Amino acid sequence: MRPPLLGGRKTRGYSLGLLALCLAAAGCLQSQGVSLYIPQSTINATVQENILLSVDYSCHGVPTIEWTHTSNWAMQKIVEWKPGTQANISESHKDRVSTFDNGSIQLSSVGVRDSGYYVITVTEHPGSSQFGTIVLHVSEIRYEDLHFVAVLLALLAAVAAVLISLMWVCNRCAYKFQRKRRHKLKESTTEEIELQDVEC
Ligand SMILES: *[C@@H]1O[C@H](CO)[C@@H](O)[C@H](O)[C@H]1NC(C)=O
Ligand SMILES: *[C@@H]1O[C@H](CO)[C@@H](O)[C@H](O)[C@H]1NC(C)=O
Ligand SMILES: *[C@@H]1O[C@H](CO)[C@@H](O)[C@H](O)[C@H]1NC(C)=O
Repeated sequence: MRPPLLGGRKTRGYSLGLLALCLAAAGCLQSQGVSLYIPQSTINATVQENILLSVDYSCHGVPTIEWTHTSNWAMQKIVEWKPGTQANISESHKDRVSTFDNGSIQLSSVGVRDSGYYVITVTEHPGSSQFGTIVLHVSEIRYEDLHFVAVLLALLAAVAAVLISLMWVCNRCAYKFQRKRRHKLKESTTEEIELQDVEC
């Protein structure tokens, strides 16, 4: 069951990439009225970060801005608004998205499921719109955490090394001590035997 599923996901990922490219190409073809600027089209993040999907646009009037999220699991509309008015945020992203007048949105405390393609559509009026795509990778492990784990492991190894050498030293001491005691014991028993001999 597993391998076909993975394969399916991969091909779906590729087709999504293709879709995003097509959308970008379509956007370039109909760029008459609106222009869109995306400074960073790929963002790598780790869980619980706040991510700004930063864009800027220019056009003559007041456009409608729409963001959709496409992942391996689903495609959904996140938010739609006209700059300067209240944004209509979808139920799935309530309380997690804030909007800016330049068309950017901020996602708070992202999870792995927030990975995927974010497509922004800026529509001035029907027939004059512009698309842009930002790819977001959210990974589970934070690099700071990895660093912390590495330091902890090194510390544990050092403590273990110290303990092992301590044990070795103790072992040696105990061995020497035992040997001395045995020696003394032997001496005393021989003395006793000698004493007994004298008494007899
Ligand atoms: C994001 O991570 C990928 C590898 O997972 C890397 O190739 C890419 O350069 C990174 N991009 C940024 C903007 O850090
Ligand atoms: C859009 O506005 C936000 C908030 O003011 C800012 O942080 C961001 O840099 C802007 N994006 C661009 C591309 O100018
Ligand atoms: C907000 O979006 C939902 C679904 O996308 C729609 O049904 C609703 O009418 C919208 N509300 C406003 C005020 O635009």
